[in-house]
Amino acid sequence: MYNAKAYSAAGATSPLASAKIARRDPGEHDVHIEILFCGICHSDLHTARDEWHDAFATVYPCVPGHEIVGRVARVGSAVTRFKPGDLGAVGCLVDSDRTCPECHAGLEQFCPNGVLTYNSPDKHLGGVTYGGYSDSIVVDERFVLRVPANLDLAGTAPLLCAGITTYSPLRHWGVTKGKKAGVVGLGGLGHMGVKLAHALGAHVVVFTTSPGKKEDALRLGADEVVISRNADEMRKHAGSFDFILDAVAADHDIGAYIQLLRRDGNITLVGAPAKPLALAAFGLILGRRSLSGSPIGGLPETQEMLDFCGAHNITADVEVIPIQKVNEAYERLLRSDVKYRFSIDMASLKSE
Ligand SMILES: NC(=O)c1ccc[n+]([C@@H]2O[C@H](COP(=O)([O-])OP(=O)(O)OC[C@H]3O[C@@H](n4cnc5c(N)ncnc54)[C@H](OP(=O)(O)O)[C@@H]3O)[C@@H](O)[C@H]2O)c1
Ligand SMILES: [Zn+2]
Ligand SMILES: [Zn+2]
Repeated sequence: MYNAKAYSAAGATSPLASAKIARRDPGEHDVHIEILFCGICHSDLHTARDEWHDAFATVYPCVPGHEIVGRVARVGSAVTRFKPGDLGAVGCLVDSDRTCPECHAGLEQFCPNGVLTYNSPDKHLGGVTYGGYSDSIVVDERFVLRVPANLDLAGTAPLLCAGITTYSPLRHWGVTKGKKAGVVGLGGLGHMGVKLAHALGAHVVVFTTSPGKKEDALRLGADEVVISRNADEMRKHAGSFDFILDAVAADHDIGAYIQLLRRDGNITLVGAPAKPLALAAFGLILGRRSLSGSPIGGLPETQEMLDFCGAHNITADVEVIPIQKVNEAYERLLRSDVKYRFSIDMASLKSE
């Protein structure tokens, strides 16, 4: 065991603060990564504040962070895919049982024994896993991803959650050239959804509550932008979408988007508001429309997404911050005031 520097929350109403945490020494299959950048996902905030208490109660202290890019410092004796000096990335999963049908299919996100990067039982040290708001992490090489050499590292970190969480449902629902795809909420996930859907060839429409994001949405790859609080603008798109990706972090009227789907269209929730959403049955019934959800992605698809981003030169638009600004960043996230992902420069932790 060794001590790592981190930022952790002591309780649901405590700000994040500097702390020392225990990490395991690398075992034979482990990779020890010195973290360079970690993105701030809205899930970090939901978890730090125990907003998902009924589904996943938070165990404190809580060290969030699951958009990790770093440099390999040490590897165990049986590690074959990484060597010291390589870049390595870690997303939302650090382990799974590897034996169930989901793992065999490379769909580790559905493994009943998956281990999340933070707030999951830690079978090595007891307690719970600690995430990427830290100077280092030790992860089994099977859960470490390769980073394309051409990508900016601060902007690559958010691909590990925001990237894969939007890429996976876009691929699953066949979003490609000739399809009309909507993205609701231009935050961290939403802006990746726009870039990826555009690169996949779809006609992309952004729905935003923030009129000031319109020009950005077009620059990011949207073909059209709708201010969702304007009912007339919304009505113009009634019954026209093949697919809509809903990436909103707060309560909102999902029925208004269901009305915009064509027959057999699908709306997939990736946003996970703390409170249940209200739903009118006829919105779905009358167009045989469907509503589904999608969690992150498995290891093979996460690597595929990173390689796709490498080939298309796609990274997140980031505002790089020192770790000391994380609490301020959380408040700005709640005001939808981020363009479009915070990425923590972990060198800032050295002074703690
Ligand atoms: N399914 C998964 O595996 C998965 C993975 C990662 C994250 N998530 C969840 O996805 C959600 C989004 O995460 P994120 O990191 O992208 O968050 P984010 O950066 O805060 O973006 C959320 C966006 O939602 C819109 N929004 C916020 N409040 C709203 C309201 N009251 N009504 C309508 N729209 C509102 C805003 O976009 P506009 O300003 O454009 O309106 C905001 O930028 C979170 O709930 C997060 O926990 C799920
Ligand atoms: Zn996330
Ligand atoms: Zn499994």
